[in-house]
Amino acid sequence: MISDSFGRRIDYLRLSVTDHCNLRCLYCLPIQGFSFSKPEEILSDDEIERIVALAISLGINKIRITGGEPLVRPGICSLIKRISSLAGIGDISLSTNGLLLSQMAKDLFQAGLKRVNVSLDTLRPEHFQTIARFGSLEKVLEGIRAGLAVGFDPLKINMVVIKGINSNEIKDFVTLTHKFPIHVRFVELMPIGETGYFSREHWMGLSDIMKACGELVSLSQDESPRGFGPATYFKSPGALGTIGFISALSSNFCRRCNRLRLTAKGVLVPCLASEKGVDLKNLIRSGGSDQDLCDLIRQAVLIKPERHCMESKNANAREIFMCSLGG
Ligand code: GTP
Ligand code: 5AD
Ligand code: SF4
Repeated sequence: MISDSFGRRIDYLRLSVTDHCNLRCLYCLPIQGFSFSKPEEILSDDEIERIVALAISLGINKIRITGGEPLVRPGICSLIKRISSLAGIGDISLSTNGLLLSQMAKDLFQAGLKRVNVSLDTLRPEHFQTIARFGSLEKVLEGIRAGLAVGFDPLKINMVVIKGINSNEIKDFVTLTHKFPIHVRFVELMPIGETGYFSREHWMGLSDIMKACGELVSLSQDESPRGFGPATYFKSPGALGTIGFISALSSNFCRRCNRLRLTAKGVLVPCLASEKGVDLKNLIRSGGSDQDLCDLIRQAVLIKPERHCMESKNANAREIFMCSLGG
């Protein structure tokens, strides 16, 4: 077991397996001005497996595969199979934009993945490209249907609420939980990355989001869908699924933080809002031993900040993008 300087137990590792993405969501990636990593800069399957095995030896037992868009990484199913076969993995999950899910759901399930989180910010076909700039709503919905059909459980949807853009759809997303056994999480927009998109004009806080949901009943941990992230869960009366809220700004959850992030380029970052990290790839490629790597992983845990301070500085100015950090 590994704990940070504030006594938090760190047992969840988010792996960004690629920074490439087949979408360019308004709040995440600019159309231009971001250069994706070259294949040789990205950790190989062997390097990722080695890091995960060492992280497990230090107490990590939950892995989330993220990106960019993780399903665009060549050979992702075989990487997931290698990770899910490691002794000591208690939970493995994936965050995806869902575009490639319909064709990959079966192979992913067979590779050992049992639950997925799908990002979806609108249920209106004509709005999809306004927010995501590419792709189509129908493809994502196909992915969600395929995910439910193969048996991913829970299947969660992340809806980033953008005031004036999709905030009028909150009720429609609540209605989805009445029709399907899915779990919709409303995510407060965060000032991350260099898109310059975050602004008070676009930001809607937790209390307004909750108001727009209508009647909700709060759920205990046992009644909430399986997961180890920052969401708190409720249910709309009579619904099959649940409603979660992830509100980094209006209700800070850093006290409960349990995670580290590995970027596609092999930097282990202690916090979503961190500017610092430790370079595991450099150590691996210069012949570092398992002991050296474990020491560096411990160092990342030790530099984990007590909390983010996204609200107090211009985080848009940080030279880091969400697609490198794994969301
Ligand atoms: P589970 O609860 O295990 O299903 O995972 P999760 O909800 O942490 O994973 P997911 O990748 O679906 O993240 C949902 C949203 O929460 C995304 O918008 C993330 O950016 C945000 N998020 C996840 N982890 C953190 C975190 O450590 N800090 C902050 N501020 N936001 C986070
Ligand atoms: N604010 C809030 N959520 C964000 N995500 C990406 N960028 C932001 C942001 N600036 C979310 C995506 C996805 C998850 C992995 O991160 O929508 O659900
Ligand atoms: Fe953890 Fe940092 Fe996220 Fe806070 S902002 S929950 S400390 S990763």
